Amino acid sequence: MSISIIGRSIAESATLKLNETFAILKAKGEPVIHLGGGEPKSKAPIDAITAIASHLNTGEVRYAPADGTIDMKKSVIRYTMEHYGRKVEPENIIVSSGAKQALMVALQAILDPQDEVIFPAPYWVSYTEMVKLCGAVPVPVVPEDGTFTPRMQDIEQNVTSYTKAIIINSPNNPSGAVYPESFIREIVEFCEKKNIYLIMDDIYHLLVYNGVKVANPFDYAKDFTDNSKLIIINGVSKAYAMTGFRIGWAIGNKKLIEVMANIQGHQTSGPSVLLQKAAIGAINGVQSSIDSLRATLENNRKVLVEQLNAFSGVHLLPPDGTFYTFADFSAYEKDSTKLSKFLLDKVKVLTMPGVEFGMEGYLRISFCGSIKDITEGIERMKWAIDPDSPNELYIGERKLVRDWN
Ligand SMILES: Cc1ncc(COP(=O)(O)O)c(C=O)c1O
Repeated sequence: MSISIIGRSIAESATLKLNETFAILKAKGEPVIHLGGGEPKSKAPIDAITAIASHLNTGEVRYAPADGTIDMKKSVIRYTMEHYGRKVEPENIIVSSGAKQALMVALQAILDPQDEVIFPAPYWVSYTEMVKLCGAVPVPVVPEDGTFTPRMQDIEQNVTSYTKAIIINSPNNPSGAVYPESFIREIVEFCEKKNIYLIMDDIYHLLVYNGVKVANPFDYAKDFTDNSKLIIINGVSKAYAMTGFRIGWAIGNKKLIEVMANIQGHQTSGPSVLLQKAAIGAINGVQSSIDSLRATLENNRKVLVEQLNAFSGVHLLPPDGTFYTFADFSAYEKDSTKLSKFLLDKVKVLTMPGVEFGMEGYLRISFCGSIKDITEGIERMKWAIDPDSPNELYIGERKLVRDWN
């Protein structure tokens, strides 16, 4: 079989693969707990459901324009005004099948083979593979000061004549870090000065805790012409708990959006008109579901952070946003893939290995599940890796006996 060089270079999505493993184990009746999840468990807003249902009832479900329906664009304009205080035009917007597609199409529109794309580590698993899909080169930058906050000097050191774009994801998946306003200002100014695309992946920007503020890149941008290199990515997946609806968008200069629409038009056409209706319902409807999701997550976060802090060997920088913690387990095991597999095999707890996010020795542990799962999952993990644990643990009726040290 002949497979392309790019095809061969693309790794399976580690997060999607582990989700599949979880589903298989669950279907077999295994008492597995998912602490690696990437989606809220709450229901989609009622306004999203009624909007999609009433369109479905018309029986007329047609193609949508390649760059999204005009009504959906109006909702994005409204969203951008409300959350960024910036008036954008319909021509500045493309609606895609998830933020993932919006990002992918943006990269396809700007990258040539050999171009380089910088992003701070830890990073979302898809950035490396998306850049490779364009024949370009991912350049992850690990912060050298042991925090999850990137420093301008680390980024600047990695800029070459091939650097075409920088991706910034704050609040960050997997660390939950919200990058300081000073850093966002510097990176916006730096990219404008150097004529480098700045892609802000803001998909978690409404999920922040303890009154933390997410910096608004528009506040520091000076260029709003068609030469602007600022691209903002967002969507309904996380804050509206609508991951399965697959609606996201990009905001950028008009020429870039036109090119992205050309690409998307040949790839998938516009996202399903039904799903756009649901997203319009969510954005234009009552917003209280975001507040209640945030309150639930804030409570879950408190419980998870307390429990992880009770592990003597675990080092944790508590997250300010998202629904992930990224904890350093290297005192127990340096190989995060091995540790994650061990926890799944021995105590049926699913975690995401840090190496997939560009930092070895860490595990991504989510707090988007139930408090019960968080509490029981962490108890099981503690039992499995703490050498002072009692010899036995019960999971329901099932007795586990330690056969390891
Ligand atoms: C950082 C980041 N960006 C983008 C996405 C994609 O979101 P969507 O579901 O809208 O494609 C995710 C989803 O996990 C993410 O974590």
